[in-house]
Amino acid sequence: MTKIVILTGAGISAESGMGTFRDEGGLWAQMRIEDVATPEGFARDPALVHDFYNKRRAAAARALPNAAHEALARLQREWPGEVVIVTQNVDALHEKGGATGVIHMHGELARALCALCGNRWDAPEVMVVGERCPQCGGPTARPDVVWFGEMPYRMDEIYTHLAEATVFASIGTSGQVYPAAAFVMEAAEAGAHTVELNLEPSAVVSDFAETRFGKATEVVPAWVEDMLRR
Ligand code: NAD
Ligand code: APR
Repeated sequence: MTKIVILTGAGISAESGMGTFRDEGGLWAQMRIEDVATPEGFARDPALVHDFYNKRRAAAARALPNAAHEALARLQREWPGEVVIVTQNVDALHEKGGATGVIHMHGELARALCALCGNRWDAPEVMVVGERCPQCGGPTARPDVVWFGEMPYRMDEIYTHLAEATVFASIGTSGQVYPAAAFVMEAAEAGAHTVELNLEPSAVVSDFAETRFGKATEVVPAWVEDMLRR
């Protein structure tokens, strides 16, 4: 039984024009994480946080999937039910590229969350302070994005997939944020072959059995071709 579990990070969307976080000039060089990616930051200045995510939501809506997103969708089509994509990204480029069943462990820019009743709905293009929840009416809407210090989504499901993995590929992530950075060890313990596909070595590169460095639009299609030839 083959089960390919793929973790992606901001690097897979870089060539679609979406900024990464920790590269030169990345998002965390422009904004402080404390101000726009923590619950405390949202409580302190919700307008700043909405502005940050409104800008990213508009960029994500315009962005087009690249050859790496499309190659992963092809792998899913060729091996139905055996390829699971877990992404730290909050854009919808995997889905735009044809992927299905994507697990967004850090949430999605296109969704809104009610901090009061837990309701989720499709976010408006522009969210404002005091945005009301359509279910409970509270002025408690926030971006449905997992912030630092919050628990990522669907972790039980993710760990089940990792325990069954025969191949684990990590694409476009710096390996600096947990628990995602530890997925490679979970998969390796389950006996999976592990491969890192990245522009440069990540912080956890030594945990991988195989590495392929280069731009995602080059190394990911080549890796998928090799997988399909196996
Ligand atoms: P972490 O301790 O793994 O942080 C990794 C890096 O993020 C740190 O090296 C630092 O550069 C930065 N960072 C983390 N918290 C920060 C903070 N409060 N202020 C400034 N910089 C900070 O991250 P964590 O806080 O342990 O993350 C815990 C949870 O938050 C995890 O479940 C993770 O999935 C989630 N998370 C969400 C996001 C997001 O923006 N969607 C980002 C990272 C983590
Ligand atoms: N092709 C392949 N890899 C690339 C490319 C590219 N064209 N461009 C950049 N990369 C790599 C970088 O070398 C880096 O290792 O992508 C990685 C991006 O790392 P980060 O900017 O740290 O993004 P990510 O790993 O996704 O961050 C994890 O931290 O702040 C949070 O919520 C945020 O989900 C994010 C999490």
